[in-house]
Amino acid sequence: MSYTYQVQTAADYEAAYAHATENPEAFWAEIAATFRWKKPWKTVLNWEFRSPSVRWFDGGTLNMTENALDRHVEAHPDRVALLWEPNDPGEATVSWTYKDLLERVEAYCHVLVARGIQKGDRVCIYMGMIPELAVAVLACARIGAVHSVIFGGFSAESIADRVLDAQASAIITCDGAFRGAKTIPLKSVVDQALSSCPEVHTVVVHQRTREQVDMMEGRDVWYHEALPVDLKPFPAVEMEAEDLLFILYTSGSTGKPKGVVHTCGGYMVWATYTFVNVFQYQPGQIHFCTADIGWITGHSYIVYGPLCAGATTLLFEGIPTYPDCGRFWQITEKHHVDILYTAPTAIRSLMAAGPEFPDAYPMSSLKVLGTVGEPINAEAWHWYDQHVGKGRIPIVDTWWQTETGGIMISNLAGVTEAKPTYATRPLPGIQPLLVDEHGAEIHGNGVSGNLCMRYPWPGMIRTTYGDHDRCRQAYFSTYPGLYFTGDGCIRDEEGLYRITGRVDDVLNVSGHRIGTAEVENAINMHPQVVESAIVGYPHDIKGQGIYAYVILHSPEKEDLRVEILAEVVKHIGAIAKPDKIQFVPGLPKTRSGKIMRRILRKIAEGELQQLGDTTTLLDPAVVQAIISGRASE
Ligand code: WTA
Repeated sequence: MSYTYQVQTAADYEAAYAHATENPEAFWAEIAATFRWKKPWKTVLNWEFRSPSVRWFDGGTLNMTENALDRHVEAHPDRVALLWEPNDPGEATVSWTYKDLLERVEAYCHVLVARGIQKGDRVCIYMGMIPELAVAVLACARIGAVHSVIFGGFSAESIADRVLDAQASAIITCDGAFRGAKTIPLKSVVDQALSSCPEVHTVVVHQRTREQVDMMEGRDVWYHEALPVDLKPFPAVEMEAEDLLFILYTSGSTGKPKGVVHTCGGYMVWATYTFVNVFQYQPGQIHFCTADIGWITGHSYIVYGPLCAGATTLLFEGIPTYPDCGRFWQITEKHHVDILYTAPTAIRSLMAAGPEFPDAYPMSSLKVLGTVGEPINAEAWHWYDQHVGKGRIPIVDTWWQTETGGIMISNLAGVTEAKPTYATRPLPGIQPLLVDEHGAEIHGNGVSGNLCMRYPWPGMIRTTYGDHDRCRQAYFSTYPGLYFTGDGCIRDEEGLYRITGRVDDVLNVSGHRIGTAEVENAINMHPQVVESAIVGYPHDIKGQGIYAYVILHSPEKEDLRVEILAEVVKHIGAIAKPDKIQFVPGLPKTRSGKIMRRILRKIAEGELQQLGDTTTLLDPAVVQAIISGRASE
């Protein structure tokens, strides 16, 4: 398979960018035509950013899995589609060809439809990183069910919130998951969650850790028992281009996580186009994305992008530090990985373990390194370059979001230049702009502002599930007529983009998005808590740490830190646990009752000289009280 739309040189990039900007419909029609459609589209794009309404390839029908599987089975059935590396390096790896993978997906489809799951139904998936997770995702896509993958670190309550919001009728899980030295009891967490979700009629359970689990008669089925004995094909269900492919919940600045909706046609084109161009994928190469399929990075760059491009994708069950801090490098060596795509937080934690781990492996198969999820600091960038890339291969710094479906701003490996800590240039079809707080566009170079998009791209969010107005409010109302990313950004003298981090109340902790309001709501559930405020502060490994200011009813009573942490784990999950908790007598508020987070952030950062104007506070004395009681660890 060759990719007619793969740019090869900087001049190609310039030409593609110009074409995509001047004539986006012709540009995307040409690329979409390289995919397999059941019926051709009638219009390439209909859009307006007020409601918003964005429709790509309307009238066209397809099934994503024919593009991810069938057409590769026809062209190269024996090429490896999926490699799997288990948590324990001593356990056997899995290697499935495109033919194997399609057979497994088809068998899985039969399991799902036998349980009455149909096109349009929502299916939640709460699994560890085993190969059947990718199979389950693809089987949903093949029957037209809408999957919603929930990261294995979320609590029972978070699962229930998502299952209810998505009105899911089935959930797919495992007995448990291996993660480093730990096992995580997934099925029992699902059982707890489902006590408040009576609409769920089916739980498909995979065997992995073989721990004891309860199976509810009629509702729960073991996957290995439900699997049909003889393999039968399962024809891919015809989907409209704008039918839902999946929902993925993500945190915003207010309320509970929202269900970001991606649809079949546009997402397919975007995930594949960006994969092929950013990583400069060549057929036969092995792509290792270390993300979890519970996040968007896993959706787009473990499953859909690579498989639609006919690539070999490597799925890793474990964590970077088990059994030691050389695990990523050992996997890279063992499987002759060509492309390694990971997060700055992983790089920083492995950097702290010392260069001897990567230095022990030549990793001569590597051609491209990538990072995603948060700003990468210069030190981590250079360490990645020197010790992992051995100073000889390009690094792509890829900026994007759950809502964007795929990479938006990034250098293209070996094609356009890299600049440490810069995502650099927008991909063809992406029209970024910077605005000031009033929404006025900031022109020219050597400037900074809030990052927006003025034109739709195929992989963008279509709605937030069940509440379209929330989508409008969250992304299209701050600056009318524009999509607002929530990120701050610098455009340097040469016009290259550097994303500096969130400008809203969303934290990025170890590359995970966490809404401050969500953590506050969880803490406020504790009966002893009057009120709380969450801010981020710079953290050497995690990028941002979570700092909690908490007012208690009876502060003189026992230390409630442990209980407060437990509250957060219960309502959200361990990933949202505050790193520091400070009990305070009050919070700095304006006369209208708004918490002045700016001041709390400065105190958390230790920048006590720069608190700014505090005279508008209701009670300025509270600031001194907070400063004198600052949490130290
Ligand atoms: C941040 C992850 C700087 C950003 C794909 C964005 C980045 C949020 C980068 C989305 C990068 C992601 N440089 N910041 N290369 N990539 N971000 O939805 O703040 O989990 O808004 O998607 O991560 O996180 P999400």
